[in-house]
Amino acid sequence: MLSPFVLAPTIRKPTVLIVDDEAAPRAALSQILREDFHILTADNADTALGTLDNHSVDLVTLDLKLPDRSGSDLLKDIKRTHTETEVIMVTAYGSLQSAMDCIRHGAAGFLLKPFNASELLAISLQTAQKKLRLDQLRPLLTTSTTLWDPEPACSNAWKALINDYTAMNGTGSLSAANSDQISPLVPLISDLLETKDRHLLNHGSRVSFYATLTAHRLSLSIADQQSLALGALVHDLDLISASNTHVLDMDSNPQTHSPDLGARMGRAMGLSADVVQVIALHHERWDGTGYPFGLQEDRTPLLARIVAIAQVFDDLTADKPEGIPLSFDEAIQQIEQQAGTAFDPALTEVFCLTMREQPPQR
Ligand SMILES: [Fe+2]
Repeated sequence: MLSPFVLAPTIRKPTVLIVDDEAAPRAALSQILREDFHILTADNADTALGTLDNHSVDLVTLDLKLPDRSGSDLLKDIKRTHTETEVIMVTAYGSLQSAMDCIRHGAAGFLLKPFNASELLAISLQTAQKKLRLDQLRPLLTTSTTLWDPEPACSNAWKALINDYTAMNGTGSLSAANSDQISPLVPLISDLLETKDRHLLNHGSRVSFYATLTAHRLSLSIADQQSLALGALVHDLDLISASNTHVLDMDSNPQTHSPDLGARMGRAMGLSADVVQVIALHHERWDGTGYPFGLQEDRTPLLARIVAIAQVFDDLTADKPEGIPLSFDEAIQQIEQQAGTAFDPALTEVFCLTMREQPPQR
């Protein structure tokens, strides 16, 4: 079959912009990275922004302390104006907390001074390679519709994409057939969610984490736990087809969010029936007023009922571009108030008990 995609092995040498006001760290970073990267440097924020406007930069290493503004402010600017550029924060040991705050604002990682050369190179290469993969996937989501077309085009498109993605990464055959292990489709799913919007991947990852904690407490079988973890990660899959840029705003709106479509895409990708059910039914409600089918009580399968709670909990507590997130305690109270209406009452109790045991988030 002729592939409709143009994914190719990522052989382009990435470009890094090293932003640091001190000459010695700039020289050290340049020395370590120059074999694998084209190197650009800047000693202040203004120069850095000018360089980003005039060059195609894959990765920025950004010192937290700059003469003309803070590194975290510059990070926010870069993430707003050059969304696709990856940023790694560089910091002295004492300001680790600030560096971690930067992760919430879109930094891909942080490095501690003094540098450990092999760690620095590994993080930089890993981040740049991910950026190159997302660059390849982005046109599929903006110009091609076959991944969410009706069958059989949808299945053919996913087969071709999985083949191309496998070849691009040289990772051997991707197949969802081996249910004893975590699905090898996870890297592709994660990349597609992040290509659309990093908030969509972060939302899926956190929902998967909360659902998995709950599954442990319920002593679900390993097979169920694996289906749940993957289903939770991929539950909003249809949103990769959205033309809207604020995809997470669409999550709670049945006019703009189609679990049906997500389920069809999941099936075409080769996900198991249990995982597809989670995608299809995570907006059903215990009282039968949910969508797409209005299923009542335990007619919605257990795994989808868990994800239904976990995804609302994450909506309430996650950092968003607009609005102030609730604390875990406040969110737990809101979830409890919806036991018996939106959510399975017995599951709500287990979920809230599990979340109460988590360390304070902020
Ligand atoms: Fe959703």
